Amino acid sequence: MADIESLLKEKRRFKPSAEFAKQANWNSRTVAEYRKLAARSPQQFWAKMARENVSWFTRWKKVLDWEPPFARWFVGGKLNVAYNCLDRHLEGEHAWRRNKAAIIWEGEPGDQRVLTYGQLHREVCKFANVLKGLGVKKGDRVALYMPMIPELAIAMLACARIGAPHSIVFGGFSAEALRDRINDAGAVAVVTADGGFRRGKPLPLKLAVDEALKGADSVKHVVVARRCENPVTMQEGRDHWWHELMDAASPNHQAAKLDSEHPLFILYTSGTTGKPKGILHTTGGYLTHATTTAKAIFDLKDDDTYWCTADIGWVTGHSYVVYGILANGATTFMYEGAPTTPGPDRFWDIIERHRITIFYTAPTAIRTFVRLGDEHPKKHDLSSLRLLGTVGEPINPEAWIWYHRLIGGKRCPIVDTWWQTETGGVMITPLPGETETVPGSATRPFPGVDAEVFTQEGKPAKPPDGGFLVLRKPWPGMLRGIWGDPARFREQYWSQYPNIYFAGDGAHRDKRGYFWIMGRIDDVMNVSGHRIGTMEVESALVSHEQVAEAAVVGRPDDITGTALAAFVTPRAGTAAGGAFADELRRHVTREIGAIARPADIRFTDALPKTRSGKIMRRLLRDIASGKETVGDTSTLEDYSVLAKLRESEEA
Ligand code: WTA
Repeated sequence: MADIESLLKEKRRFKPSAEFAKQANWNSRTVAEYRKLAARSPQQFWAKMARENVSWFTRWKKVLDWEPPFARWFVGGKLNVAYNCLDRHLEGEHAWRRNKAAIIWEGEPGDQRVLTYGQLHREVCKFANVLKGLGVKKGDRVALYMPMIPELAIAMLACARIGAPHSIVFGGFSAEALRDRINDAGAVAVVTADGGFRRGKPLPLKLAVDEALKGADSVKHVVVARRCENPVTMQEGRDHWWHELMDAASPNHQAAKLDSEHPLFILYTSGTTGKPKGILHTTGGYLTHATTTAKAIFDLKDDDTYWCTADIGWVTGHSYVVYGILANGATTFMYEGAPTTPGPDRFWDIIERHRITIFYTAPTAIRTFVRLGDEHPKKHDLSSLRLLGTVGEPINPEAWIWYHRLIGGKRCPIVDTWWQTETGGVMITPLPGETETVPGSATRPFPGVDAEVFTQEGKPAKPPDGGFLVLRKPWPGMLRGIWGDPARFREQYWSQYPNIYFAGDGAHRDKRGYFWIMGRIDDVMNVSGHRIGTMEVESALVSHEQVAEAAVVGRPDDITGTALAAFVTPRAGTAAGGAFADELRRHVTREIGAIARPADIRFTDALPKTRSGKIMRRLLRDIASGKETVGDTSTLEDYSVLAKLRESEEA
C-alpha cells in the first residue's frame, strides 16, 4: 500500500501507449474531429454515428424532435435491433461472421457452449416464432427472469425482433419484487428457467415465478428453460418447456420493421421514493448510442474476446453484454456464476483459458480481489488482455492502480465509464486511444454529450468546487420516460433545473475539466454497484408485523462501497436481539432480494426526526459510520434520541 500512496502524491497520469493509440478504432485525430463536430452540432455528430454504425430499413426524416423533457430521435426511421445484432453479420461484406462466435458461454460448474452468429440467429428466429405462437404481439411486454445463460440473450433478441419490449428482472430479486415489476409493466408472458448455478447451488427461479404469479393476472404464459434438472411443477396450459416449444418452431423469421421510437425495453431501477421506476428505452437512439460507445470505448475488433462481468439483469448487461457488443459483430463472453466459485481465482482462470482481450467489471469486484490477495491473479497468464474498464461506482485510486498493475500488467488502458440505467449508454469516459487517464476520474464526456457540474443556482460550478451532475442536452440513448408515470419522470429528473437532466450524482471538475464523480446525493444507496432505494428497504422492514418504524442509510464499506445500516423500532413486546435481527434480514431477502439485506441492524425506541416529522437520515448516517455529528441539529425534535442511538449497539 505504501508505494500506492506515494504514487498518488506524484499525481500520476497514464497516457495511452503509442502502440495502443496506433491501432485504436478512434485515435486522437478521429476523437478531435468528432469532438469538433459534436461541439458545433451534437445532432450532426449523432446522425453520422447512426448512419455509420446502425443499419436502417428506412432512413429517418428528422434527427431530433425535442419537446422537453420528451425526446424523439431519428424520427420516421425504421429498423430492428435484432437485425442489427444478427442478420447484418450474415450478409454482404460481413457474411464470413456466420461461423464466428457471437456468444462464448461458461457455466459455473465449468460446462461450456459456443453460439456462432449463424446459430444465434437461428435460435433467435425460432424463439421469435415461439413467442408469436403464444400470442405475444408487437407492443406486448415480456418479463425475463433468468440466470446468466445464453437463453436469456436469445429471449431478449427474440423480443426485440418482434417488437415486444422486454422487462428483465435480475434473478437475485425475490418473488415479491418480481410480482411488482410484472404488474407494473402488465407483462403477458414470463420467460424463466428451472434454475441457474450460483455458488454451487441452483437458484429456485421457477418457484419464485409460481409465487409471483399468484397475484399477477396479466401473465398468460410461462416458458421454462432447462438448466439445472431441478424439479419444478408445471401448470397445465400456462407453463411450457423451452426445448419443447423450440423443437417445434420454424427457424424462419423476418425481423419486424419497427419505428425508431418503438419501445425496446423497460428496466426497473431504484428511485428516491417508494416503488422502483420502470425506465423506458426505445429503439433507434438507444442502439446508436450503445453501438457507437461500445466501438469507441471498448475498441471492439473482430478478433477480440470481450467479457463484461455484469449480469444481464442490470443495464450494463443490456447495453454491454448484449446489444452494443453484438451490434458490432464482436464476440461476447458470458459467465453464469459467482466470481469465487470454485476458488478465488475463477475470473483470472477464465481470462487465461478463453484468452479474454477486453475486460469490463465493477470497482466492488476489484476491491474484493484486492482483499483476496495478489497470489490469485499472479497464478494466471493474463497477457491476452489489452483493455480494462470499470462501471457502477467511483473507483478509489488504490483499486485503480491495483487493477492497472496486477490485471492490466501496466500495459492496458483503463476506461472508467460513468453512466446510468437512465442514460442507456456511457456518458463520461476516457477514449482509450486518446485520453490521458488519472486514477479515480471518469475524465471527459463522450462526444455529443453535454455534461456539467451545477451549483444549486444552476450555474456551472467553478473548478474544483463540487456540485450536481447534469446533462444539458438530449442524447440518443436517454430514457424516454418512466413506464406509466410521466409526472414522476418530470419530477425526478427535470424539476431541479428547467429542461436540464438531473442525474442525482454529486461531482466536481478539476482544472483541466476532468470529471470526478462523488456518488449519489439522494436517498439511493450504491451497494456493490447496484442502486437500492432506502425507501424500498424501509418498506420491506415495516411490512414485518413486529416492526413499527424503520430507517435505512448507507455507511462506507471497504468492499461493497456502501453497506446498508437499518435502524428499527420494534412493536411493543418484541424481543429485540440478534435472533430478531437475523429474522429481519431473512425477511428483507424474501421481500426484495439478498442485495438489500442490511449489514447492520440497530434497535431503537425512537428515530431522530425534525419537528415536521421527517427522519433525519443525515444523523443516522453519522451514527452508522461511527462519525461525530458536526452538522446542524437545531431542527431535531428530541435530542435525547440521538444520545440513546449513539449508545445503541448493533444487534
Ligand atoms: C454510479 C450503472 C462513479 C452513479 C451503469 C450513477 C458511477 C449510478 C460510475 C447508476 C462511475 C456508475 N463512477 N459512479 N464510473 N458508473 N456510477 O443505474 O452513482 O445501475 O448514478 O447504472 O451508478 O447506476 P445504474
